[in-house]
Amino acid sequence: MEVRRERCERGESILDLVGNTPLVEINRLRDGLSPRVRILAKLEGFNPGGSVKDRPAVWMVRDGLRTGKLRAGKTIMDSTSGNTGIALALAGTVLGYPVELVMPENVSTERKKIVRAYGARIVFSSPLEGSDGAIRLCRKLLEADPERYFKPDQYFNPVNPLAHYESTGPEIWADTEGSVTHFVAGLGTGGTVMGTGRYLKECNPKIQIVGAEPDDAWHGLEGLKHMASSIVPGIFHEEQLDRKISVSTDRAYEVVYRLGNEEGLVVGQSSGAALVAGLQIAREIDAGVIVVIFPDFGDRYLSTSLWFGWREWQERARAKHAAGARA
Ligand SMILES: Cc1ncc(COP(=O)(O)O)c(C=O)c1O
Repeated sequence: MEVRRERCERGESILDLVGNTPLVEINRLRDGLSPRVRILAKLEGFNPGGSVKDRPAVWMVRDGLRTGKLRAGKTIMDSTSGNTGIALALAGTVLGYPVELVMPENVSTERKKIVRAYGARIVFSSPLEGSDGAIRLCRKLLEADPERYFKPDQYFNPVNPLAHYESTGPEIWADTEGSVTHFVAGLGTGGTVMGTGRYLKECNPKIQIVGAEPDDAWHGLEGLKHMASSIVPGIFHEEQLDRKISVSTDRAYEVVYRLGNEEGLVVGQSSGAALVAGLQIAREIDAGVIVVIFPDFGDRYLSTSLWFGWREWQERARAKHAAGARA
């Protein structure tokens, strides 16, 4: 199988370089697997804003312009755990619209700095309430001044999965020459797994669509949601998945460390989580082509608990929450 990579050689703007990310073979992290099983990682860190979220962000902003919901005088506003914010800040800057982002105060320093480098403004929500706290605060601000803002609303906007239906899915189908048997992605908004999954199922209904989810509400997998303890995104329809695999933070981190050391891939936590799920499937089958989404590279997490003190961070967060609940 030849892996194709067609990049736009000269874009009108940086937004034209979103998508067409490469697949790479996972060669070493395959202890005990059948030689007839292949695992291919789709490296979304190659997008200009550095993550998979460039796709829905650009699609949603362009849709806002097309429908007139985003027009002169409006500010783009959304709640985001980081990557969507970076992508919206990028799209807003290029298209000439100010961007304001609500995010939990404890997102990584790198993310805050990148967003500001694109010229966006950040409004912080409580670090104890995670991405749901950011969603609630964003709603409140929007209700207070609805005329001022355009909210892409990635958790409820069907254009989020549509971006993956129109780009991620066709790329995977073409780059594997239709040989993909399993598709695995972590669950955040669910946009990646829903849109890509729908496209691949239309190409071949036998392709298994798998979501990887944190196994605990107190997880360290930035970008992913533990659905049972979260506000379930409106675009996420669990019944459309063939399977959901729960992944522990410890296992995901171990895989991230091994990816750096053995495959030369320094990636984010959610890539580790998706690969843990991909490896579980790989061990269960005798032959197949498993495509796993790696949403971003690891450089934006170098100051986070991924690289030091994850257990201490978890204990502190639990204790703070318990103290807050008692107060
Ligand atoms: C690092 C990371 N991984 C995974 C995801 C999940 O992608 P989706 O929202 O398409 O489910 C996100 C979403 O924000 C993310 O930032």
